[in-house]
Amino acid sequence: MTLEVFSANAENAHKYIVSPSILSADFSNLKSEILKTYNFGAKWCHIDVMDGHFVPNITIGAPVVKSLNEVLPKDIKLDVHLMIENPLKYIPDFIKAGSDIITFHIEASCDTTEDCISLIKEAGILAGVSIKPNTPVSLIEKFIPLVDMVLVMTVEPGFSGQKFMADAAKKIKEVKSLAKDNLIIQVDGGINAETAKICADYGANCFVAGNYVYKSPDIEIAINSLLD
Ligand code: DX5
Ligand code: ZN
Repeated sequence: MTLEVFSANAENAHKYIVSPSILSADFSNLKSEILKTYNFGAKWCHIDVMDGHFVPNITIGAPVVKSLNEVLPKDIKLDVHLMIENPLKYIPDFIKAGSDIITFHIEASCDTTEDCISLIKEAGILAGVSIKPNTPVSLIEKFIPLVDMVLVMTVEPGFSGQKFMADAAKKIKEVKSLAKDNLIIQVDGGINAETAKICADYGANCFVAGNYVYKSPDIEIAINSLLD
């Protein structure tokens, strides 16, 4: 499954996956905003789900994922980042809605981490586990062989447009040292061409970018600067 995701880009042979975060998009024109990034080569679409409890912000839920899944090209990967308490309870809704990748936070899953992973994998989609900037890699170590993706946050989750936390990015090296070959190592928070390069050197191969892509005067240049 993981390799399939990479080979979906085979004709373009891009080295990295770019997943623009719609948190910085114009929510009144979501479909056309996403199609813009897709047409410039970003084949993933990062959807930030926040509940006002796990993070101090509220965004969108499964009905929006469902609507997007119905109107977007089938080869766009809906990359759902759950920043919510009790992910196990809500994962089925996001599976039903048509997510291609579901990532939840280790700080929120407590003793249900393995159940969350199994639920996502049994649905035939990719499972990701994420750590906040101050969470050590040791907390996810035993789950790394079970997941398709690890998401290292380089800002405190909750808002787009924050400053990249360089120390948090260093944890990518540790994840990389524990990773099987095809693990997707995603980084999210304050990503631009410069910070993506730092993360790529540490071993990241998938970049989430909100402000840098959607608020850019030239979206095509911004995406290309992250793709290879
Ligand atoms: C923050 C979200 C991010 C956010 C990134 O909690 O998880 O995906 O949209 O935005 P930028 O790239 O602007 O930091
Ligand atoms: Zn995110």
